[in-house]
Amino acid sequence: MSDTSRWRGSLCLEVNPLPNTIIIFGASGDLTGRKLLPALFSLFRRGLLHEKSRIVGCARTPMTDDAYRERLRTGWLAELRSPELERFLELVSYVHGDYGDADFYARIGRRLDEVESAAGGGGFTGRIFYLAMPPELYSAVVPQLAAAGLLTESASGLPWRHVVLEKPFGHDLDSARQLDRELHRHLTERQIYRIDHYLGKETVQNLMILRFANTIFEPVWNAGFVDSVEISIAESVGVEHRAGYFDRTGLLRDMFQNHLLELLALVAMEPPAGSDADSIRDEKLKLLRSLRPIPPDAIGRQVVRAQYTAGAVNGIAVPGYREERDVAPGSETETCVAMRLYVDNWRWRGVPFLLRSGKRLAAKSSRIIIRFKPVPHSVFAPLTAADLAPNRLVIDIQPSEGMRLELQAKEPGPKLCMGTLSLDFKYASILDDGQNMPDAYERLLLDCMLGDQTLFIRSDTILRAWELLTPILEAWQRGDPAAGELLFYPAGSPGPVAAERKLGFAP
Ligand code: BG6
Repeated sequence: MSDTSRWRGSLCLEVNPLPNTIIIFGASGDLTGRKLLPALFSLFRRGLLHEKSRIVGCARTPMTDDAYRERLRTGWLAELRSPELERFLELVSYVHGDYGDADFYARIGRRLDEVESAAGGGGFTGRIFYLAMPPELYSAVVPQLAAAGLLTESASGLPWRHVVLEKPFGHDLDSARQLDRELHRHLTERQIYRIDHYLGKETVQNLMILRFANTIFEPVWNAGFVDSVEISIAESVGVEHRAGYFDRTGLLRDMFQNHLLELLALVAMEPPAGSDADSIRDEKLKLLRSLRPIPPDAIGRQVVRAQYTAGAVNGIAVPGYREERDVAPGSETETCVAMRLYVDNWRWRGVPFLLRSGKRLAAKSSRIIIRFKPVPHSVFAPLTAADLAPNRLVIDIQPSEGMRLELQAKEPGPKLCMGTLSLDFKYASILDDGQNMPDAYERLLLDCMLGDQTLFIRSDTILRAWELLTPILEAWQRGDPAAGELLFYPAGSPGPVAAERKLGFAP
């Protein structure tokens, strides 16, 4: 085996974490059932949850340990039933109480000591407090955890006390700063793991590798060769059971503040000094700092917002957004946003970055398209340069994960017959039969157990994202005429296409 392949071999092995106790607040909630417990169970099956690790669910609903395990067995994990499930359930216990009650935290503390010493991990076990709950509760829970001494680490930082938070991280710049101040009163930045589940997706992790482990892309990854970059997250689902949350939040906060700006940063940032968390996060921040803020009088020209009306998705009739349960009548909340941004640095000067995301669109598809410039001159008269389709690199984040490079090539037949040829790669082609792409939450939970913050968002990046988006939100809120009007699109359609074309989106 050559040196290189030996390295690749060892990098392909997962690092096994030390014992950790994962304490899930909001343990009876949707996120815990749909994502966290299935991800932990999968890690357990893959041998990536240390045998001394334990899971303690915490929530308001009164329930015994056995009743909680039964809920997992017959509900959330029922479909994943396998011989290992009973062994996994032995790791799980449950504590109920009121989030504002100091006694709840004292009981949690006692339970942690009990389960850890029974498992033989004792004082060596790292603790991960996962707050799978509405962010309004963060400022109740974190100070209580701190007051109960549950966040205190020794000077060495080991065993660690990590807190995992789900978005939204604030509602605007001021509230994000306020949340940050509250968290930093009790925690250092090293202890805070802010989740953006897009960063845990395999295809998103691949962006760094594609760019910086190959030589062929980087020389053309700049304004000299790239015409535009499009980043799109389209969903066919509506607001489902989260209408109340969504109606207060809107799509710009829900998808742009985190997922879209993070994707943009990964596509456009400079090569980091290394692959450690801070080198990468420094570059992402630097990129976001280079994004040109949209001046208030240009919002209407650079941003489109729209809301879905009644329509049909995959042939099934669905109500309009305003008719959804828990949506305020006459709501002005946007369910689709498209935006043109520019990065003011040497590499990207003048290249439009076109970002869009929407709900209830025709199909689910998250993708990045790098559109290269046309050839400068055609030697194939009578064809002109404009007749030759420019190259595109299309990165499919999901579904049908993969990528394709579109080239002009000769078609068999007459001498100058040419057309677009795709070099197409699908991840499915390298997976074993029945094997799925690993779930983002597995990667993120594992990294948190390993103390690796690379795929988690740093506070300064969050604040920079809010700095860029808050003026847009405020202009919409004021009904500023220069910020444009709310448009409408039928559910199941491609969205507000005409307005998006004006921003520069390709047909
Ligand atoms: C979440 C948003 O962060 O991402 C949801 O709050 C959205 O509104 C979801 O539906 C999309 O995630 P995915 O992984 O299904 O593309």
